[in-house]
This record gives sequence, C-alpha cells and structure tokens, in this order.
Amino acid sequence: MLITKNTFGKDFIWGVSTAAYQIEGAHDHDAKGPSIWDIFVQKKNKIIHNQHGNIACDFYYRYEDDLKLMQSLHIPNYRFSIAWSRIQPDGMGNVNQAGIDFYNRLIDYSLSLGITPWITLYHWDLPHALEEKGGWTNRDVKDWFGEYVALCVKYFGDRVKNWIVLNEPTVFTAAGYFFGVHAPGRKGLNNFLAAAHHAALAQAQGGRIIKSLQKESYVGTTFSCSHVEPYSTKERDIIAARKADVLLNRFFIEPLLGMGYPTQEIKVLNRIERYMKQGDDTDLKFDMDFIGIQNYTREVIRHSLFVPFLRAKIVSAKKRKVETTAMNWEIYPESMYHILKKFDAYPNIPPLIITENGAAFEDLVEDGRVDDLQRTQYLKDVIEQVFRAKSEGVNVKGYFVWTFLDNFEWAEGYHPRFGLVHVDFKTQQRIIKASGHWYGNFLR
Ligand code: NOJ
Repeated sequence: MLITKNTFGKDFIWGVSTAAYQIEGAHDHDAKGPSIWDIFVQKKNKIIHNQHGNIACDFYYRYEDDLKLMQSLHIPNYRFSIAWSRIQPDGMGNVNQAGIDFYNRLIDYSLSLGITPWITLYHWDLPHALEEKGGWTNRDVKDWFGEYVALCVKYFGDRVKNWIVLNEPTVFTAAGYFFGVHAPGRKGLNNFLAAAHHAALAQAQGGRIIKSLQKESYVGTTFSCSHVEPYSTKERDIIAARKADVLLNRFFIEPLLGMGYPTQEIKVLNRIERYMKQGDDTDLKFDMDFIGIQNYTREVIRHSLFVPFLRAKIVSAKKRKVETTAMNWEIYPESMYHILKKFDAYPNIPPLIITENGAAFEDLVEDGRVDDLQRTQYLKDVIEQVFRAKSEGVNVKGYFVWTFLDNFEWAEGYHPRFGLVHVDFKTQQRIIKASGHWYGNFLR
C-alpha cells in the first residue's frame, strides 16, 4: 500500500527533533554556564577522537538559515531542547537574560516561518554546578529542575504550548551514572538507582509544574524503547529477555502511570527503596497528555552467567549477522510496531507520539548531493509500521524524525550521521540529503 501523509489524517503531527548540546555550539558564549557535557568532553578518551560540542553545527548562530531549510521541506513541527545552563548558568538562582533572548529568537523565528516549537526541557546537559552538588544523585535536583521548568514556562509559555519534560531517563541515568560512558561519567548501582529515582520524581513533578502554570499546555515526556526478543525458546533466554525488557522499556513509564517500579523480575532493583521517602509513590505518578516514544532498533537477549544480578546480555547485531546502521544497530523497522502495541496496551496510557526515530548511515557527498537511499528506505519502512499499528487501533498521534542536521552523537562524536541534512563540520555547509527531499515531498 502506498502510504502518504493523508493516510494518517490531517491532525497527525509530523516533525523533526534536535537537542541543544548536539547542535548549538557556542558552548561558553553569552554567559552560558558549563554543563556536565562541556566538562565530560574535556576528559581524555571519553569521546571518539576526543571530539566535543564546542561548535557542533554552530546552530546558535545559524538557526535562521537552518529554520529556512526546515521550512523549505514543509516540516511543520520542530522539537528542540533548551540548554539549562544558558538559562541558569549555576543551575539555580541567577537567570541569564542572554540565554532567554536566544530561545526567544529561536521560538519567534520558528513561529514566523509557520513552524510550531516543541520544547524538551532536559536533554542530558545538566548544569555542571549542580553536578558538583551530586547532580541527579542528589534528591534536591527535583527542586532545582522544578525552578528551571517554571522559568521556561514563564518566559516562553506565551508562545509555546508543547513541552517534553525529560529525554530518555533510562539512557542518561544508566549511561551517565551506571556505566560512566556519558556525562557525568559516574558508575555503580547506587549512583544509578539514586539518579533514576530522582529523575522519575522530576519527570512527574515537571509535568505538574507546567500544568499548574499553563492550563492549555500539552505536556509529555520521552522514553527510549526497543522491542525485546529472546535469543532462543529456552526458558532461561526467555527469562533473560523479560529482565532486559524491565530495564529497556518499563522502568520509567510504570511509576509514571502509577504502577510503581517494576522490580519483581530483578530483585536488586528493590534497593531503589533506599532513596524513596513517604509520599514518593504518589508523587511519581502524573497524567501526561502524551508519551514520547523513541525507538531505533530491537534487542535480542540471551541468558549469561557472567553478568551480575541481571544474568542477561544483548546478542549484538554483528554476532547475529544482520544488517545494521552506522551505530551497529540492527535495521528492524517492525520494532516500532511492536513497541507501539506494547505501550498502547498499558491501561490508561495517554496518546503516543514518536518523538524520535531515524538512522545513521555512511553518507557520501558526490557532486554536491547525498543520495542516502538506505535512510530514505528506513524512514518509509518505519512510517509504514506506524501506520500498521495505527490502523490496528493504537492511539499514535505523531512522528518526529531524529534528526534534522548531522550532529554530535555523544560518546560516538561526529561519525554517526543521523541528519536529513548533511553538515560539513569544517565549513558548516549544509546539503539537504535525498532523505530530506523525500520527507519534504511526503509532507508537502
Ligand atoms: C536518542 C537521543 O535522545 C539522541 O540525543 C540521540 O542522538 C539519538 N537517540 C541517536 O542515538
């Protein structure tokens, strides 16, 4: 079946997503305070080739041209994040007018082009000053974050209605506080569980604050999620897959829905109770207006004696000899269908919006063109899976491509290119890729 924009109905929300640290650059301009990523990238060998986001796509200075490109592709919705330490260089107190001014310019310019802004309040760049006080492991982070959220609604809420509280709490707490491979580079189960609980509290609290300040707001938060399958039909692989599912898909959505933390499958996670206080059970719950789904691949899981507590491990795409993207993630568009069905099955789940989906490939520039046929195919295939879920009754209301511009892919640096628009990081020249033209035609 040929799927067009009209197949989804006229209210379906189409867009693209970006994040501040990955594109803005101007990392210390106009009184911005350092974030944990500004500090983390200075450490040796944390990022491939010791790359950093100091300049990135220079979006801070080039946003007008970039938004014009976005408009030329008929993209009606733009999700971007606010760098907390541009607004509050010390993470609390003191407000930096230059930071407010930048986002005002960005919002106003988007609106003037007919592009609706969707603001992500936290996309991983905690002010470094707060990390010095313990960062996400300090329970006070809930209040620091609340103060910042209220400021954003106060300054931008006259023009912005769509808010995303957190971006992928599983990833920033696990990669940042358990594995130490993302900022701030801390490790261990206790750091992870403390950070996770405070992030879960902040996600609900953030939602409450926005709603209390802006009745007509449309509030959501996002989750990384991957369809999980056991490696074999052996019982121990099935159990291993169930455990992985808890960590990859269930850990943050269930407390938000009022179901508590899913700790039955992995007993050690009960330790999260050490960080809980009376009343937290109810504070973790908040009725979001929508849930942001961010899916890129599936994971195949098998039993492993060598992984403490979990006894489960990922069987890599390479081992399984399946086709992958430049991130070494399996190309598996059906994952989106399964994830949408899975989340939709929760009782009382609000509507779902795919706030990120996309793929990194080795793009070649030839004669000033980038013919990224694989990315175009991937996007088409996933959109078809979204339609498949929608036509079976899943309440899915939107789809945002990750991402507009090639950018700084965290610990992987600039190598993985996810953009609809190619960026030459030496000259800052932009080229709309074939996938960008395809998406533009699709949206026309
Ligand atoms: C998830 C993150 O939100 C985003 O920052 C990242 O670049 C993409 N996925 C791709 O890994």
